[in-house]
Amino acid sequence: MPWRSTGLALETLPPGSKREVLIEGATVLVVRVGPSVFALDGICTHEGGLLVDGTLEDEKIVCPLHGATYDTTSGAVLADPDGVVPPTGVATALQRYATRVDDGMVWVELP
Ligand code: FES
Repeated sequence: MPWRSTGLALETLPPGSKREVLIEGATVLVVRVGPSVFALDGICTHEGGLLVDGTLEDEKIVCPLHGATYDTTSGAVLADPDGVVPPTGVATALQRYATRVDDGMVWVELP
């Protein structure tokens, strides 16, 4: 699978921050959790909320539209819209992409 540059320098992505990048038509959410960087589909699987506008709470991202919550380290759904737990399948897991840092720049592996 090809590696693609996000164009993001790691130093511009402090712990607890997030960015959205468009790569070959894909909307990718890049998040920094502690020392690690994760990349996921940036669009909520419920009704298309832009997750970059959501709230990042440690490793969790909360969708700005209806509150579905995802684990940014795995893409798993932690809560349905309106915070319903356990999740029922209303929202489905986000695609997660491998990341690496090369020469201070963040790269993602797209399918
Ligand atoms: S669009 Fe994200 S919870 Fe509805």
